[in-house]
Amino acid sequence: MGIFKLEDKVICECSKALLLALGQKDEHTQLHSERVVAISEELGFSIGLNKNQIKILRISAAFHDIGKIGIPDKILLKSTPFDDEEWKTMQSHTLKSEELVKTLHFENSEIIANAVRHHHEYYNGKGYPDKLKGKEISIYSRILSLADSYDAMASPRPYHDKRSHNEIMSILETENGTKHDPKLFKEFKLLIEKSKHKVD
Ligand SMILES: [Fe+2]
Repeated sequence: MGIFKLEDKVICECSKALLLALGQKDEHTQLHSERVVAISEELGFSIGLNKNQIKILRISAAFHDIGKIGIPDKILLKSTPFDDEEWKTMQSHTLKSEELVKTLHFENSEIIANAVRHHHEYYNGKGYPDKLKGKEISIYSRILSLADSYDAMASPRPYHDKRSHNEIMSILETENGTKHDPKLFKEFKLLIEKSKHKVD
């Protein structure tokens, strides 16, 4: 029993330290990751994930973009569109996140590594890095993708303004079944209305 508590504490401290390191490079991504933890957890609870699954989900959310530590600043912080080479480098953050999680050897770190690797897969198989389709993408990655998309659109970036809740929901509606899992989106629509993470 005690050992599990210690491991939970270690994981928590590790994720805080690594998110802080990410924040020293790119504060936006640190804050984004923290909000993705909270939104993912709400979605996880609402679809009935158990305590252990919620723990896996929370760690996966905390680490989903941690690989951005390894992306050069001139690309990570760029405010104009990427060329093909830059886009490929940016996409590699999923593999870097996976690599980092794998070195931590947490309980369930294989599942967490897989979840972060696939957080940019699309339900229709058009995402990256492995072009997985539908349920080939783990439930954790499908949840992360929705939480990530909502929060990314809710925050102002150099290349787009912050969008309103209604604007975000209509964009997500167009991505329903292509980028996102329709069943999950149905749950998300219900929970976000009551969520403290709902933006104006
Ligand atoms: Fe990402």
